[in-house]
Amino acid sequence: MRFQNKVAIVTGGAGGIGETTARLFAEEGASVVIADLSGKGQDVSDALNERGLETCYMRTDVTKEEEVIRMVKQTVQRYGRVDSLFAGAGIASDGPADQVDLDVWERTIEVNLTGVFLCNKHAIKQMLMQGYGGTIVNCGSVHSHVGKARVAAYAASKGGVEMLTKSTAVAYASKGIRVNAVCPGYIHTNLISGLDERIVNVLIGQHPIGRLGTTEEVAKAVLFLASDDASFITGTSLLVDGGYTAV
Ligand SMILES: NC(=O)c1ccc[n+]([C@@H]2O[C@H](COP(=O)([O-])OP(=O)(O)OC[C@H]3O[C@@H](n4cnc5c(N)ncnc54)[C@H](O)[C@@H]3O)[C@@H](O)[C@H]2O)c1
Repeated sequence: MRFQNKVAIVTGGAGGIGETTARLFAEEGASVVIADLSGKGQDVSDALNERGLETCYMRTDVTKEEEVIRMVKQTVQRYGRVDSLFAGAGIASDGPADQVDLDVWERTIEVNLTGVFLCNKHAIKQMLMQGYGGTIVNCGSVHSHVGKARVAAYAASKGGVEMLTKSTAVAYASKGIRVNAVCPGYIHTNLISGLDERIVNVLIGQHPIGRLGTTEEVAKAVLFLASDDASFITGTSLLVDGGYTAV
């Protein structure tokens, strides 16, 4: 129960890694705001609340600053504070640079990088006002660290998350706000379930552990970084990748 009496915001909490992270935060005692564009966040919240956990859904588009401001404000109105943010909302995008349309490039950067920036910005403003620190975990990727021919826009957005994380960690370390990134390899979520089996097998072969990851394996790393167990860790990037980047 590392998050008893704590309040966590999880963006992208309606599905995949974010959904599992929201569940684990709630199971460890946090009141959890599930912030997502998708109304499925309400079902996720209802299911957790039926188990006696404390969560709520807030429809939020992380690319819109006024919606992010509202998300933080309503979190404080409802639960009184913000202790942790997991900036998990993200989208996949495909294609080498010469084949990426400008609108795909812009949308990828908007959701995966600008959205993370806006959530960091307004969570930090709230944490500074509270005066007792807080923790932020941003969702990067193995492609924050290594390139791949077909993911130009995605890798650029996730590389940006890495440097945003480090710069933000340095800026607020003295205020007790720790900022880290979790960088998953390929994980079984909706992003993967649409791929054909041959491609999934190629991806599996790129992970020395010999399989793709689970959302639990990523969410546990998020909770570690967000908890006091990681009290001397800030500005780091925790690869949860089955050895993908070790090759
Ligand atoms: N699945 C993987 O293999 C993998 C690997 C590395 C990193 N990641 C990252 O993990 C994070 C979660 O991805 P996932 O695999 O769980 O995917 P997912 O599609 O299951 O979940 C992403 C969630 O983000 C939400 N979202 C998208 N745009 C949004 C917006 N503008 N505002 C608010 N919410 C929005 C979606 O509605 C969805 O619920 C993403 O940042 C992704 O880039 C995933």
